[in-house]
Amino acid sequence: MQDPVFNLIDAEKQRQSEGLELIPSENYVSKAVLTAMGSILTNKYSEGYPSFEGTPGWQEDKIATEILENYRYYGGQENIDRIERLCIDRACRLFHADHANVQPHSGANANEAVYFAWCDPGDKILAMSLPAGGHLTHGSPVTRSAKIYDFISYGVTPDGDIDYADLEEKALKEQPKILLVGYSAFMKIPDFARIAALKEKLPHTLFMADMAHVAGLIAGGVHPNPLDFGFHVVTTTTHKTLRGPRGGLILSKGNVASPLKKPEKTLENIPILIDRAVFPGTQGGPLEHIIAAKAVAFGEALQPNFQDYSAKIVSNAKILASELLKRGFALQGGGTENHLILVDIKASFDIDGKIYEKALDKVGLTLNANALPSDQSGAFRPSGVRLGTPAITTRGLSEPEMVKLAEWMEKVARLCQKAGSEDKLDNFTSDLEKIHLEVQTLARKFPIPGV
Ligand SMILES: Cc1ncc(COP(=O)(O)O)c(C=O)c1O
Repeated sequence: MQDPVFNLIDAEKQRQSEGLELIPSENYVSKAVLTAMGSILTNKYSEGYPSFEGTPGWQEDKIATEILENYRYYGGQENIDRIERLCIDRACRLFHADHANVQPHSGANANEAVYFAWCDPGDKILAMSLPAGGHLTHGSPVTRSAKIYDFISYGVTPDGDIDYADLEEKALKEQPKILLVGYSAFMKIPDFARIAALKEKLPHTLFMADMAHVAGLIAGGVHPNPLDFGFHVVTTTTHKTLRGPRGGLILSKGNVASPLKKPEKTLENIPILIDRAVFPGTQGGPLEHIIAAKAVAFGEALQPNFQDYSAKIVSNAKILASELLKRGFALQGGGTENHLILVDIKASFDIDGKIYEKALDKVGLTLNANALPSDQSGAFRPSGVRLGTPAITTRGLSEPEMVKLAEWMEKVARLCQKAGSEDKLDNFTSDLEKIHLEVQTLARKFPIPGV
């Protein structure tokens, strides 16, 4: 008998194939990425790092000769070292970094490692608040880092942009050890130049960006790169717009040297401080099968067609946003400049985000309920929903399908309005089922990659 785990994987394959994924932090990886992830590299322990000799400018065609030594705690690293170096090199090329640490198991681990690398307990970190669109790891009181460091937050303006006056005032007053720009629900392009201009007045502050959501757009050249504006460190996940395996990545500018040396805490030494903070500071053995898959995904993102992909993500999001606006949806910030759309579903149809999420699930459209910056309704019954276009763009959906999506979304919103509560949605099962069949028919025309 087949282990039921595999039956469930098959069921999930079917769910992904027959539905449309609108969660903005999800994507579909290629067959090559899946293959690397599922490889025998998972068998290997390789605590430590490959040699950094030759960085930057290390060439892929010299793989066979460039690994001179390593800083590993286990033998048998000759292949692993080359894979990790390849991954580091591709990440640096993709994002114009001097150094990449490709070992963080997730975006949360990457952020935690940067805080640990640069701050002492009690140090101040200035970041966007969670209600404004920041991430949990940027200071939410439920996290471990919020118990260690002193987080101060800035917000957004009513039109959905960063409240730069608030940010500047708090930065100058508090002189934080880290000034962090990053978010999970923010639809504008940050003014990195304006924020980096504060460096003159904050010489001891680490300027950090968490580009988890927009990494693929940066890689594709349709979004500015904070490292090009003088930010010291950029963290990211590798599985959202970047379309790699689930994981984290830390990029930085500065001295790249042996992680065995205990460096002084200077901004120039950030790469070494970060390496030591990831391992042994906050993690154990790296996941080399995931690092190989990151290398494959970065290789894909370095191809010219990834620029077309990322441009298409943004154009699809803009079309979808304007189609939603036409149908009476109120959008935070009035629309989008990236891949994300945040709908005030309460203001649009007088329903809450959770009932709408549940109803859309029933028709095969997946998104998530999300609080709005000024939400009074609490995290479990928020007034908004968040959606985005990275995954559907991977499948090849474009303008006509964006129109169709907006039509379905309006129909479902009106059914929720009529139902009034989640338990009464059952009265509209046949209407929902009709839409579900239409969604399935369209989804089957755009197969997911990798299966
Ligand atoms: C901006 C940002 N940072 C960090 C993370 C955390 O990433 P992970 O879920 O891989 O820990 C996320 C995930 O949604 C995110 O949006």
